[in-house]
Amino acid sequence: MQIQTEVQLKPFNTLNLDAVASYYTEIQSTDDLTVALDFAAQQQLNSLILSGGSNMLLPERINALVLHMNIRGIELLHADEHHQFLQVGAGEVWHDFVLWTTAQQLYGLQNLALIPGRVGASPVQNIGAYGVEVGEFIDSVQVYDRQSKQFRSIAAADCQFAYRHSIFKDDPTRYVITHVTFKLLKHEDLKLNYGDLKVAVGDHLTAENLQQQVIAIRQSKLPDPKDYPNVGSFFKNPVVDQADFDQIAANFPHLPHYPQPNDRVKIAAGWLIDQAGWKGKQLGPVGMFHKQALVLVNYGQASLKDVQHTYHAVQQAVWAQFRIMLEPEPVLFDINGLIRSHQG
Ligand code: EPU
Repeated sequence: MQIQTEVQLKPFNTLNLDAVASYYTEIQSTDDLTVALDFAAQQQLNSLILSGGSNMLLPERINALVLHMNIRGIELLHADEHHQFLQVGAGEVWHDFVLWTTAQQLYGLQNLALIPGRVGASPVQNIGAYGVEVGEFIDSVQVYDRQSKQFRSIAAADCQFAYRHSIFKDDPTRYVITHVTFKLLKHEDLKLNYGDLKVAVGDHLTAENLQQQVIAIRQSKLPDPKDYPNVGSFFKNPVVDQADFDQIAANFPHLPHYPQPNDRVKIAAGWLIDQAGWKGKQLGPVGMFHKQALVLVNYGQASLKDVQHTYHAVQQAVWAQFRIMLEPEPVLFDINGLIRSHQG
């Protein structure tokens, strides 16, 4: 393992932000991780975990040790009558892993095809799409706990998985995820409840076709970061109380929404941004994508400041019209490699 200095992270973050890290290393094993964390402790540096770089907002300068997680490998563990358990390295590319499971006739993750990023990031915000969240198929998460200074395994039941949320999101400086253990189905059980997925899949009810249709839908709406640097949905879909929703819906009867447990309602942020006039609109080099208003795109050589100008303007426009404050989804870092609040 080699620790490099003054490393440009532009190729490693999908929003293509210029960000130079004072220290950088690639982690290929749990041993590498131990050595790197010892180095950071000796040098009194914070450590920042870089995975696929598809959900982060980086400043131009980062005085910290960046750990680029590249632990690979898929290990078949035990099986029971209905499930196959497998342990996957945090550095495996998510989409390649999903394709691999389908080829192995293991089921559950097909709705999550083409989500950018690596396996290790998948539990952090409990990635979800088309009616499935990854937490449903996770058995446990293997971590290094920086608090107790030991490697350990956290059962899914203790991860507090919820919409775009987990304990790893709450306590981002505590855990380094090294592996994820999945519990996949041995028999097909296609989830077709989301939007027009059922129509897209039609009569050809196979996991391969479901996966193919999810890929086609995503490709038709979501920009490829290679062409349009982006971090996927830029805002979370806001979840509000039923009473607040009723008030808004009285004025906007076509507002797309999804009932949630506990008398709450999830509202489509893309629709709010679209209505506020921001679909396809740009401020400087940063704008909201013309085919999907929820996706913020770096059209030029944007800095973090440019990104912030645009998303603050979008938040204000939506607030002015709907009195809803949209919450950004990607994680914002400061110059010391620590996670910052979007409000501060
Ligand atoms: N809409 C508009 N205008 C737009 C965009 C959307 O009116 O510009 C409307 C759509 O017509 C639809 C509704 O808003 O009625 C919802 O849009 P869509 O079905 O495209 O899904 P979403 O709510 O925008 C969420 C996830 C996506 C995930 C899709 C499919 C969040 C924040 N985003 O998007 O996740 O792929 O559902 O499940 O929950 C991601 O997190 O990066 C991501 C892409």
